[in-house]
Amino acid sequence: MLVSALLLALGATSVLGGPFIRSTYAVKGSHPVPKGWRALDRAPQDHKMELRIGLTQGDFKGLEKHLFEASNPKHNKYGNHLTADDVYKFIKPSHEASNAVHEWLYEHGVLPEDLEYTPAKDWIKINLPVSAVEDLLDTQYHTYVSEDGRTAVRTPQWSVPRHLHEHVSTIQPTSSFFGPRAQARMEERKLEVFMDTEDVAEYLPPPPDAATVAEVCNTTWVTLTCLRTLYGTIDYTPQSADKNTVAMNDFLGEVNIRSDTKLYLQNFRPEALGAENDYQIISIDGGTTDQTLNETQLEDGTGIEGNLDDQTLIGISWPTALEIYSTGGSPPFIPDITTTSNTNEPYLTWLEYVLSLPDPLPSVISTSYGDDEQTVPKDYAVQVCNALAQLGARGVSVLFASGDSGVGGSGECYTNDGRNASTFLPNFPTSSPYITSVGGTYKFNPEVPVFCNRSTGLYTAGGGVDALKSYFAATGVTDEFAGLFNPNGRAYPDISGQSLNFTIFWNGTLRPVSGTSASTPAVSGILALVNDALVAAGKPTLGFLNPWLYGGGYKAFNDVTTGSNFGCDTEGIPAVEGYDIATGWGTPNFKEILALRGVHVASPDGWGSWNRS
Ligand SMILES: *[C@@H]1O[C@H](CO)[C@@H](O)[C@H](O)[C@H]1NC(C)=O
Ligand SMILES: *[C@@H]1O[C@H](CO)[C@@H](O)[C@H](O)[C@H]1NC(C)=O
Ligand SMILES: *[C@@H]1O[C@H](CO)[C@@H](O)[C@H](O)[C@H]1NC(C)=O
Ligand SMILES: *[C@@H]1O[C@H](CO)[C@@H](O)[C@H](O)[C@H]1NC(C)=O
Ligand SMILES: *[C@@H]1O[C@H](CO)[C@@H](O)[C@H](O)[C@H]1NC(C)=O
Ligand SMILES: *[C@@H]1O[C@H](CO)[C@@H](O)[C@H](O)[C@H]1NC(C)=O
Repeated sequence: MLVSALLLALGATSVLGGPFIRSTYAVKGSHPVPKGWRALDRAPQDHKMELRIGLTQGDFKGLEKHLFEASNPKHNKYGNHLTADDVYKFIKPSHEASNAVHEWLYEHGVLPEDLEYTPAKDWIKINLPVSAVEDLLDTQYHTYVSEDGRTAVRTPQWSVPRHLHEHVSTIQPTSSFFGPRAQARMEERKLEVFMDTEDVAEYLPPPPDAATVAEVCNTTWVTLTCLRTLYGTIDYTPQSADKNTVAMNDFLGEVNIRSDTKLYLQNFRPEALGAENDYQIISIDGGTTDQTLNETQLEDGTGIEGNLDDQTLIGISWPTALEIYSTGGSPPFIPDITTTSNTNEPYLTWLEYVLSLPDPLPSVISTSYGDDEQTVPKDYAVQVCNALAQLGARGVSVLFASGDSGVGGSGECYTNDGRNASTFLPNFPTSSPYITSVGGTYKFNPEVPVFCNRSTGLYTAGGGVDALKSYFAATGVTDEFAGLFNPNGRAYPDISGQSLNFTIFWNGTLRPVSGTSASTPAVSGILALVNDALVAAGKPTLGFLNPWLYGGGYKAFNDVTTGSNFGCDTEGIPAVEGYDIATGWGTPNFKEILALRGVHVASPDGWGSWNRS
């Protein structure tokens, strides 16, 4: 979104009117280059970068306080979700911060008319050649390449004048190598047990009216009917489809193939047939909306993640409207230094887009991507977490996959800070305190944590659980966390869902796909239906879940109490009664959640009518 004339005028006045404040440069941001990335060459000086300058937000603490109050059923502000304008008022930077940054840019030859702003003006975006950015930040950029072929133009350290340190929260792209990766695909592609469509009939469930979990669920093929029966949504008829939207993210060139969605619906949800044409795929920063896959994409399994996410979401939450954000950036590496890579930071690009949308936002957003937290500088992480808090404050339940063991895998768990010390490797942004992190289970009656290489218990080492419990035991905000991303204070996942051997269609055939990539859209679809019922009952939507969840909402979740996960060369974390970092509070029980939120079934013999209490 572009700047208003007012701010331009303000900026220009102060720039031309006052004397420049000068102070010496000092390092503001510094972060080690993550494991698996290496520098190639100096970045070409004329390579264009889209620089994003994050300004210190005026009153993030105020926003955070509101978020926790509005998400706490015991508070009188409960359900009082903010509008976009309310949020902008909280986070708008001070005039002092804004003026100081504008003066600095002007002094370096950056003209006011070249600047773009987010609606709250907490981010400034400028297109500049590498040479100009190097001058501005007193640094040198290199082209880096990762082991898995991603490229980035980055610098591990950057500086700004000392007097700007309090006004600038982060500048990117600099030291963040974060590029969200899909959580489920790699190993699944190696399974090579893909079925032809002709075999589907074997996995079709018996008619739902008589079905029990034992009759419809089998770990070899977890069908939509199994999920809907297990979590109790199968006999619910949505009532607010025109007032409620669920959304999901695609990154990394992931796609959603409508002809595959059609096959899925035909086979598993025939009454929803046609919905394959109804969902919106919104392209952000060149994000793909492709409907056909070329040979390379088929080989890479492109679309397995995207298809898993949209099929699971539609399958469960239909006819709730689905919106898909497809964000570009991070193309495959072309090993030619003159063919420079896209330097955009796809994650910030997506956040900027979604936070600029008018109200109402989707009531649930499902994201099955994340990256090794070690690749994320703290200044950047804080800004991303704060942006996620804005989504929560506007009433969105933001769900992230807790991650698979790819980054907490055996033999990989060492720090990248030069010490090479043993550590568990947390995943970002699922480690953010303002979102709900979804882990994985498998088996039925009882469900247990998904095992070994599908382990989901990636968490921060040392005392995380205690800090978390005391944090949420207190109502409202504790100063300890206000505005800060504290990796020692956050255990995850918060909740879980089935995550093994989901049956989805890809390239026209039925495939088993696993991971927290599967549990996240499944749980998101269920929560979208909860919102559907809440809207119909005239009640506020769920919004940010955790204060409610940790304050008693967990009673509506099926506690997972046996089994353990693995990873990082340990025996893993056992599931126990109550909260545990293998499965969080457990898996959702749709009817129990509604009952806890005061929406009850009217007649004892069915779901035909609803109390609107
Ligand atoms: C689960 O499905 C597989 C494959 O169709 C079958 O061999 C197995 O017997 C089923 N298990 C149960 C408990 O029904
Ligand atoms: C999951 O599916 C794979 C591939 O079909 C199969 O080999 C495996 O046994 C299944 N896992 C379980 C626990 O049923
Ligand atoms: C396949 O499609 C991708 C994404 O559009 C593109 O980057 C790639 O070059 C294509 N590959 C071939 C062999 O056409
Ligand atoms: C995709 O489908 C086409 C057409 O059925 C088939 O020839 C091809 O082998 C499939 N590729 C993969 C990777 O499944
Ligand atoms: C870190 O320590 C492990 C275990 O001793 C070793 O295998 C690995 O090579 C070390 N990595 C680095 C970068 O030194
Ligand atoms: C995880 O996968 C690795 C390699 O694929 C394997 O060596 C290891 O045994 C697996 N872990 C468990 C607990 O099965």
